[in-house]
Amino acid sequence: MDPTILITGATGTIGSELSRELLKKGVKPRVGVRDFEKVESLGLGPADNIILNYEDDSSIREAFKGIDKLFLLLPGLEPIEKAQLGIKLINLAKGAGVEHIVDLSTMRSVDDPKSPHLVVEKYLETSGLNYTHLCPNWFNQNFSNFFLKPIKQFKRFGIYTADAKVSFIDVRDIAAIAAKALLSDDLLNQTITLTGPESISFKEAIETISQIADIEIKCDAGNEEDTRAFLKLCNWEEKGINRMVELLRQTSEGFYADVYPDIQKVLGRPPISFEEYAKDYKECFV
Ligand SMILES: NC(=O)c1ccc[n+]([C@@H]2O[C@H](COP(=O)([O-])OP(=O)(O)OC[C@H]3O[C@@H](n4cnc5c(N)ncnc54)[C@H](OP(=O)(O)O)[C@@H]3O)[C@@H](O)[C@H]2O)c1
Repeated sequence: MDPTILITGATGTIGSELSRELLKKGVKPRVGVRDFEKVESLGLGPADNIILNYEDDSSIREAFKGIDKLFLLLPGLEPIEKAQLGIKLINLAKGAGVEHIVDLSTMRSVDDPKSPHLVVEKYLETSGLNYTHLCPNWFNQNFSNFFLKPIKQFKRFGIYTADAKVSFIDVRDIAAIAAKALLSDDLLNQTITLTGPESISFKEAIETISQIADIEIKCDAGNEEDTRAFLKLCNWEEKGINRMVELLRQTSEGFYADVYPDIQKVLGRPPISFEEYAKDYKECFV
């Protein structure tokens, strides 16, 4: 019998991709959403939809009832709030009898003592529950969601670390690995680092999108202040901009440049390249 799976963050970038991946495999997950109206447009209609709001513990308890496996996604929050929310959710999952948590962390969290994801990983490891830590690098899809507005509207991209190399990962690969972790015991109590097949700079990424979508996107690096102005154009709020600037500092030091073999090992195929992503998403940019 298939395990009963709850997907949190189900209306987000990874959660919606993962929910569709499970449905494609004939598995009907329970998807936790704040707003039923988003469900149909994301193709999650056939799933078992339930209201889940992290600010309402009774909704969490209700959503966790009878769950064997939990995909745990923490939204963008200040580090302390994020770690506290992760710990609260692990405690509630344990109380509800969940057996295995697949948590969405970040690449090299273990090398970043300030990472809230590391706090959550360590807490989960000592909770007595089975875990699978998924540690992805920057998503390809950040270009078609977070950074899309100025790319589309003004044909420009502007962050001061434009030459920094990153082994960008496709969320479809994250979803494929998450599905494997939820549907088998193969990845039990393991940490999987998720990167693309190559390391490219933001500038090279923008050049690839420009070429494939046949639009001229200007990539001006500028300085940190210019980057803040660019992120405002992306409709980011001050706190999110501060977190991004911190992340970009780390990125410029090569923290996210390495390529890891985990996807090839687990899925038996190479990860999706940035070029394939740009081909599949080119309509978004025009
Ligand atoms: N972007 C990257 O490159 C990257 C790389 C590595 C790791 N990560 C990690 O990935 C995570 C974000 O994943 P994502 O991009 O898939 O997220 P996302 O697209 O921003 O979606 C966030 C999800 O969380 C839900 N959510 C927000 N507040 C909630 C609340 N109070 N109660 C219940 N649900 C709530 C949202 O629901 P609504 O639709 O209702 O708002 C949405 O489903 C973060 O932890 C981040 O650190 C990101």
